[in-house]
Amino acid sequence: MELKNKVSLITGAGQGIGEGIAQVLASHGSKVMIVDLNGESAMRVAKKINALFPNSAEYFEADLTDSKAIKSMIQATFSKFKKLDCICNNAAASKGLGPVENYSLEEVQATLDLTFISLWKCLQIEIQSLKEQSIPASIVNISSNSAIKGYAFNSIYAASKAAVNNLTQSVAKEVARNGIRVNAVSPGTINTPGVKQYFEAEPKAKEMLEKSSLLRRIGEPEEIGELVSFLLSERSSFITGQVISVDGGSSIN
Ligand SMILES: NC(=O)c1ccc[n+]([C@@H]2O[C@H](COP(=O)([O-])OP(=O)(O)OC[C@H]3O[C@@H](n4cnc5c(N)ncnc54)[C@H](O)[C@@H]3O)[C@@H](O)[C@H]2O)c1
Repeated sequence: MELKNKVSLITGAGQGIGEGIAQVLASHGSKVMIVDLNGESAMRVAKKINALFPNSAEYFEADLTDSKAIKSMIQATFSKFKKLDCICNNAAASKGLGPVENYSLEEVQATLDLTFISLWKCLQIEIQSLKEQSIPASIVNISSNSAIKGYAFNSIYAASKAAVNNLTQSVAKEVARNGIRVNAVSPGTINTPGVKQYFEAEPKAKEMLEKSSLLRRIGEPEEIGELVSFLLSERSSFITGQVISVDGGSSIN
């Protein structure tokens, strides 16, 4: 049980990759705080995890674009579990799609807010509270392969994720002396509600994306969860400042 006696907080864990991560962390022995904008989804995931691993999950509704809500999320975690060892900043969303010249400033600003600025706000508050706690800790930010390869017609999301990768490296340098490790996990295409919906509308895209992976399939949320669990655990004690892809090899194909 690589996360026995650990407390983990996962943002955007009400569905998709975040839900898969939370479930894997609980299966490795961690207590988990499920955070989402959608309180009902967060509650559903916490119930599901508690049915499998009794008394291991709590949930909290928060809009992570709001620093006050982020502070409350951290306070709620301490009040339920008394400490915090592991954090996965997974929540993100984007507004607008299409050629770069068609984006409005509002769409660019909203995508930056939802994908980069909210993650920076989370890190700011998380690191403050981890430093006060003075115990070794590990943070994983969820990025995207689009940050490495670019993403036609979703360029602002890709650029926001590139900023997440770079921030991960800088922050890792800043907090290493405090015993805090910071890494990023970069998923390829993963079987989530949004991706399922997209494939229903565009069946050819499914075939194309499966072929783009060396393993000829898309990934499952739990496959992201396994690397996140390793990076949050002490088994990865000499790894920090890294961006690691989980993508069936699509980034080198
Ligand atoms: N699905 C993929 O193929 C894929 C690929 C690469 C990277 N990613 C990244 O993985 C992460 C999860 O993606 P997903 O596909 O599971 O997304 P998703 O949209 O299925 O789930 C995201 C969750 O985050 C929550 N959320 C969004 N904004 C929030 C906010 N401001 N405050 C609190 N909660 C918020 C949503 O309510 C939702 O439950 C994201 O960072 C995404 O960019 C996904």
